[in-house]
Amino acid sequence: MDRSITWDDGAIVAVDQRALPHAYRTLRITGTGQLIEAIQELAIRGAPALGVAGALGVALIARTAPDHRTATEEAERLAGARPTAVNLARGVHGALGLLGRGPDAVLAHALDLLADDERINREASARAADLVLRLCERRPLRLLTHCNTGRLATVAWGTALGTIRTLAEAGHVGEVLAGETRPLLQGARLTTWELAEAGIPYRLCADSAGPFAIGSGLVDCVLVGADRVAANGDVANKIGTYALAVAAARQRIPFIVVAPESTVDESTPDGARIVIEERGADEVTSFGGRSTATPGSAVYNPAFDVTPADLVTAVVTETRVLS
Ligand code: MRU
Repeated sequence: MDRSITWDDGAIVAVDQRALPHAYRTLRITGTGQLIEAIQELAIRGAPALGVAGALGVALIARTAPDHRTATEEAERLAGARPTAVNLARGVHGALGLLGRGPDAVLAHALDLLADDERINREASARAADLVLRLCERRPLRLLTHCNTGRLATVAWGTALGTIRTLAEAGHVGEVLAGETRPLLQGARLTTWELAEAGIPYRLCADSAGPFAIGSGLVDCVLVGADRVAANGDVANKIGTYALAVAAARQRIPFIVVAPESTVDESTPDGARIVIEERGADEVTSFGGRSTATPGSAVYNPAFDVTPADLVTAVVTETRVLS
């Protein structure tokens, strides 16, 4: 399967997710500033992809920084580019630990992470698909997902969307409802693109239609990814996830989180300690470059929310099912 991010002759090459679905183009990244900008503008996004980008970023830094101190400072700037997905800081710090062994050792470590990602996602997806088939009686399945958790958000295959791919390959998917994911439309722009590419039947819905669809009995199971899973099982994911979990609990349907072990953060005790990224007002007050709000409106724009563990049926990783 095509990789959303790779290493090519001293550069990070990544699909530019800002351009989809209208254009498929790649970015060639050769410096830390350029990588931070790509991450902050969501050209590269999704927790697992951010983890790999972080490690590859340190490989870039190790080749270009004049000394250890400068390299460490640049790497810390990169680790802080987005705060919620634990994978970014983890990817950076894992690679940074090898800096003393030289640029080749750092690059070898980053390339190992890159090479492992698809296997990890396929294993988590297989485990999650088994669980869905055990918990849901109805066939074919009607699934709901949020944001984009597919091959674009990882290196290849995907987590929640990887699970949908696995179930679809086995002929079990009747329809996927994809939430558009305001304000940056990762669902409308990226998930529909991946579902269409894979030939999986879907309908796109406004985020606010998701909980109503669940309450109306149109959904058998909700599948989402995660940016950080706290030690107590609370899950940070794209804003809008919590409302889906509340609706799923009320309707008594499974709400399943699929994520790699690298997203599980035992050092964060619970969801209240997860730093939630707040993004710029313009993402909410305008659309397609046109203002859609009363000028001067104050804005609340958290990029993520936290779903408490008691609303989560299971968190499925490549090695375990956490119920
Ligand atoms: O702001 P984004 O697009 O990086 O947010 C992404 C999500 O919330 C995903 O659900 C999460 O990172 C898991 S991706 C496999």
